[in-house]
Amino acid sequence: MVCLGNICRSPLAEGIMKSKLEEHGLPGTVDSAGTASYHIGESPDSRSEETARKYGIDISYQRARAFSSADFDRFDLIFAMDRENYNNIMRLARNERDRSKVELILNRLHPGKDMEVPDPYYGGKDGFEKVYRMLDASCDQIALSIKN
Ligand code: 4NP
Repeated sequence: MVCLGNICRSPLAEGIMKSKLEEHGLPGTVDSAGTASYHIGESPDSRSEETARKYGIDISYQRARAFSSADFDRFDLIFAMDRENYNNIMRLARNERDRSKVELILNRLHPGKDMEVPDPYYGGKDGFEKVYRMLDASCDQIALSIKN
């Protein structure tokens, strides 16, 4: 799960996706990263932590890290939150196999629409709630696709 800072959107996506795998008894490793380095080592934004906690998900253990090309070797699926993140990830891809792993996460919910999970950093708390719901619905689809 990849966003820009790895403090707002992708930590939520990591927490939600882990809970879906657990709920469905599915194997897999879920992690998150950012394509920018400003927040490396930081905990998730308190608004992301509070929103996740409201739904029974703890993301407070997470620490921001930067996405690197080594992640293409560690993961089969790489989900970008928006087009900027997508382009940043694609610039680090080394070959067609790497590129084939990258998707905009909302395309799992709205195929082919190239919609974006909006950056909630500068907005209010309801932005985080909206992001949570989009990610929850997308992660349901991802879990279903792993199951089938
Ligand atoms: P995220 O949100 O990419 O969802 O973690 C952001 C957090 C911080 C900044 C931008 C986006 N920033 O510019 O500091």
